[in-house]
Amino acid sequence: MNLLDGKLVSAKIKEDIARDAAAFTAEAGRRPHLVAILVGNDGGSETYVASKMRNCELVGFESTNIRYDVTITEAELIAKIQEINADAAIDGLIVQLPLPKHIDPDKVTEAIDYRKDVDGFHPINLGRMQRNLPCFIPATPYGIMLMLAHYNIETAGKHAVVVGRSNIVGSPMSILLARNSNPGNCTVTLTHSRTANLKEEILRADIVVAAIGKKNFVTADMIKEGAVIIDVGINRETSETTKSGFKLYGDVDFDAVAPKASWITPVPGGVGLMTIVGLLKNTLEAARGTIY
Ligand code: GUN
Repeated sequence: MNLLDGKLVSAKIKEDIARDAAAFTAEAGRRPHLVAILVGNDGGSETYVASKMRNCELVGFESTNIRYDVTITEAELIAKIQEINADAAIDGLIVQLPLPKHIDPDKVTEAIDYRKDVDGFHPINLGRMQRNLPCFIPATPYGIMLMLAHYNIETAGKHAVVVGRSNIVGSPMSILLARNSNPGNCTVTLTHSRTANLKEEILRADIVVAAIGKKNFVTADMIKEGAVIIDVGINRETSETTKSGFKLYGDVDFDAVAPKASWITPVPGGVGLMTIVGLLKNTLEAARGTIY
């Protein structure tokens, strides 16, 4: 078993981003600038946004976190998005999901100017990604592709099984793995909660991407010997033994699955760190204007 080490790969790529950000700043006379909107106080979302902001500063970007009470209306949120769309000093805008029930995430996503949509959630970016055109690729799938590229994992002709069809991870991941690109050129099976014989589907996989959001969902009996295992799960449980008061669990039962895997991502220290890298790369591209 070999570890797909998100700590190592993300540190290396962040060095490159910091160098490129410094060059941008010297030339443009301002830093690349990411704005993150956070509505309410979901514990997970607070942690993720804080980490995104901290990493922006680490690589030399400007970062702004705009926070709203859970009572903000959809119209107020969209008005703020339109103001940011028109602000030339802001390169990238993300609205952290999930949003409260009274706000439609699709309306919010489509309100963001696709040229600032560094989450890659806007239908224009999604459509362009499917067509293999320059676009912002959603951060988690982007980070996973960078990880596969870093370790030169052979993907062409392989059977990839993606578990979970979310807009944020599973669905875009299935498109990227199937694209005519490197990494890519997989035969992809996209599975979900209504898939019949899920275990048998996963057993056929050369590459498994687990993005279900259920602790230790993927067990050793579902895995073919030698498979590549990508664990997207970040399942937080309260813990009295950790400093943060939380312990993170993946969607994969790591201890049982690792001995069967050729490559596997740990949780923490795997995909989560690569997600940040994907977002930073998109923000730099937004500032440079190389995609749009
Ligand atoms: N919630 C979980 N993952 C993400 C992400 O990548 N972007 C946003 N905006 N919200 C999320």
